[in-house]
Amino acid sequence: MNPRASLLKEILTERRSVRRFAPEPVPEELIREVLDAGRLAPSPTNSQPWYFLVLSGADTSRAARIMARRTQGVSVPGFQAIAADAVRILEEAPHVITVWNAGRLSRRLRKLKGLIGPSYYRGYERAERDGIACAVENMWLMAQALGLGMVWIMTDASMARRFRAEFKMEATIAALCPIGLPAPDEPPERTGRKPLEDIARFLDPDR
Ligand SMILES: Cc1cc2nc3c(=O)[nH]c(=O)nc-3n(C[C@H](O)[C@H](O)[C@H](O)COP(=O)(O)O)c2cc1C
Repeated sequence: MNPRASLLKEILTERRSVRRFAPEPVPEELIREVLDAGRLAPSPTNSQPWYFLVLSGADTSRAARIMARRTQGVSVPGFQAIAADAVRILEEAPHVITVWNAGRLSRRLRKLKGLIGPSYYRGYERAERDGIACAVENMWLMAQALGLGMVWIMTDASMARRFRAEFKMEATIAALCPIGLPAPDEPPERTGRKPLEDIARFLDPDR
């Protein structure tokens, strides 16, 4: 493997979810580098559907409060624990990059929905969300390369209205990305992956 590919693989391998942070804020230029990695992501028809709003300090609690209200409605114990942890992470992180879907592509296509058909339209909506996932992964990798920690906290449709009102946004909340320096006692948790043989194969052209 060439050195560039080796370096990329190293960052891909090292990247992990960080859920405990040191309280100190991160220099703005580092956050800008992370955002710029998101900006460079691919998206359907290059529609760049994302918008990033960075919350710092006490403002991260505004996202945590919305998450906490959502958590009240969760009654299954395992899910409750995950939701409660999400509130803690949002409270503790020095910054939260809120990632919004501005719907730039689907808004344009809405007018053509009758022509292209609802299924095709939904495909584009889905692709728009996939594009946002690419942006988050780009930011996650850049955070890792810069020595920062990050995680993706999922949102759901029931939070969208509150997020929109709280932050006076017209877009739809798509992801919450707490980010900061990993806490010194952050356990170096490694999540495993299935071996390649279990998840990929080459289709034999002769069969
Ligand atoms: C779309 C998506 C949503 C996720 N949502 C959450 C979440 O709500 N809370 C959380 O703690 N981690 C969340 N994660 C992080 C995953 O749990 C994590 O990526 C996975 O367990 C693999 O661990 P690793 O990131 O350390 O490799 C999410 C990851 C993705 C890609």
